[in-house]
Amino acid sequence: MDKNYGELYNILGWGEEYFAVNTEGHLSVKPFGRWTEPGQEIDVHSVIVEALATQPNDSTSKSQFPMILRFPDVLKNRIETLHNAFNSAMESTGYTSRYQGVFPIKVNQNKYVVQDMVRFGQQWNYGLEAGSKPELLIAMSCLPVTEAEPKPYLICNGYKDADYIALALSARAMGLNPIIVLEMEEELAIVLDQYRKLQQKLPDDDAVRKKFEPIIGIRAKLLTKLPGHFGSTAGKHGKFGMLADQIYEVAETLGKEGKLHWLQLLHFHIGSMIPTTGKVYDAVSEAAGIYCNLVNEHGAKWLATLDCGGGLGVDYDGTRSGDSDMSVAYGIQEYASAVVQAVRLKCDYNGVAHPVVCTESGRAMASHHSMIILETLSAIPEPQDEDTSEQLLNRIQDLSYKQPRAPVGGATAAVYSHAADLKKHGIEMYKLGKKLGKRVVADANTVYNYHMNLSVFSLLPDFWGIGQLFPMMPVSRLNEEPTLKGTLVDITCDSDGKIENFISRENTLPLHLFEPSLGGYYVAVLVSGAYQEAIAGKHNLFSGPTLVRVNSSTTKDGGFEIERVDLGPAADEIIGSMRYSVEEDIITVIEKKAKGTEEEERVWAWEMVEPLMTKALTTMPYLNEYKVPEPEPEPEPIP
Ligand SMILES: Cc1ncc(COP(=O)(O)O)c(C=O)c1O
Repeated sequence: MDKNYGELYNILGWGEEYFAVNTEGHLSVKPFGRWTEPGQEIDVHSVIVEALATQPNDSTSKSQFPMILRFPDVLKNRIETLHNAFNSAMESTGYTSRYQGVFPIKVNQNKYVVQDMVRFGQQWNYGLEAGSKPELLIAMSCLPVTEAEPKPYLICNGYKDADYIALALSARAMGLNPIIVLEMEEELAIVLDQYRKLQQKLPDDDAVRKKFEPIIGIRAKLLTKLPGHFGSTAGKHGKFGMLADQIYEVAETLGKEGKLHWLQLLHFHIGSMIPTTGKVYDAVSEAAGIYCNLVNEHGAKWLATLDCGGGLGVDYDGTRSGDSDMSVAYGIQEYASAVVQAVRLKCDYNGVAHPVVCTESGRAMASHHSMIILETLSAIPEPQDEDTSEQLLNRIQDLSYKQPRAPVGGATAAVYSHAADLKKHGIEMYKLGKKLGKRVVADANTVYNYHMNLSVFSLLPDFWGIGQLFPMMPVSRLNEEPTLKGTLVDITCDSDGKIENFISRENTLPLHLFEPSLGGYYVAVLVSGAYQEAIAGKHNLFSGPTLVRVNSSTTKDGGFEIERVDLGPAADEIIGSMRYSVEEDIITVIEKKAKGTEEEERVWAWEMVEPLMTKALTTMPYLNEYKVPEPEPEPEPIP
């Protein structure tokens, strides 16, 4: 390959492990991370072409943009990397317990993502974290029921009502391992009450009754705080959890009820994107201190797990600086070492047995495995008022043909006048030349608005909501210099539907001249597999994208297999989600209006409306096969 312009997007910074530019000048995925061998990279452009040609599941419509490409092998690699990191940190420091983590469902609730997490993590008893009743139901259906110990955790976080707690208790009766994490002191009374009520439904068998006893955790509100957007989760005034003294009171209450053996886990979560290992260490050390006090001073000798929550960050801008919400100054191994070291030192100092370390790492598990593919619809320069460089060049050429003629004869006055004309002409040429020079420089800096088949609200809600930046780059032509500066304009909102902030901290992204004759020009939004699908909004009733699941082949020919293509929600589903009955409120009403009254007899209007309405209702709302028609040829002049 002659040139590789991947560096313009800092691909080595945020993507070194999983992404590269191949010899074709295309973005490629390294599905096995560091263990990807030469020839195993997957060409993203080829995946897009094949996805477009693949018939989506359960649909007669064709695949369409926007798309999310998912690479399950990357997900698997993230889970392996996390477990290897903790195992090696524990082995190398003589840690005497184990790591057993959970995936927080809120990060990406998609069925295949959650099922993959459980399947890929099974060998490490990787569990799930739920923060609501629907998430709990998903966890109850996805986690395996097993008699083998240790069972995967089903961590139940979030504010809870009686129904949530009863459902969590019933999950234990099913043979799962739910742990009800108390966010507030009041929740303990609900647990005791629901336990008593549900107990009456148990068979009269002591062994079953014993097994059914709740296991509870308490969420600690730590004083260690994060800077930036994610910092509001911890500190004295944080929304969730209890301060140390409240935790000790709950332990006392449990002791009085004879239920202290229920308390087996201490949890904290100080926020997402912890910027440095120093902060990780401080938070874990503070929590481990509370853990040791519970064991040593409050009789909580059944405590066995310290759940350090989420916060393992992703280096979105690839700077490894940790100086903004877009960057963290460490990798998974450094994070694991900081956690293990902090717990070990605190427990050793207090003479407390090392607990099982759990984390609820979400962002760092799910981000890398998927990318959003945006299709360019058109690209136009931001309008400028002055002459174009072409017009200026023409004027210079015109002027050069009109050089003042030399006078015939040598009269002084005529020579003087000719000199003055030459001077004037020269000045004019000079001025135009200068203007042209300026214009050429300005052209090079012209901002082009790339209109993309995109809704910022549906695909990148964190960009809109919290100013989150994601790496973005063209999928192809990366061996050709991207000479234009582009912003990405979506098809929804005038004021907010525009991407003009990028990880480079520039307001534009280097892009190529859009030439429809060369085929599609696609921009990938990378490291975007966490939170975006879960938080997505429905502005203008645009909604989810087409989902494409791409499996890698272990051969070394860059092979891949598209396992399935699932279209995003069609208009009827989205309209239905706004409480319309599509049949009664939309179809029947439009039919009636189109046909008109009996006297109006407008059946022909209904015949026109009906197929168009059906197509619009049954397809995704994004622009489909967008192409501006060629202008009609001028009619031949009549001779
Ligand atoms: C309680 C809890 N656990 C885990 C997470 C996941 O955090 P992260 O994605 O930073 O790993 C969150 C999300 O903010 C959370 O609120």
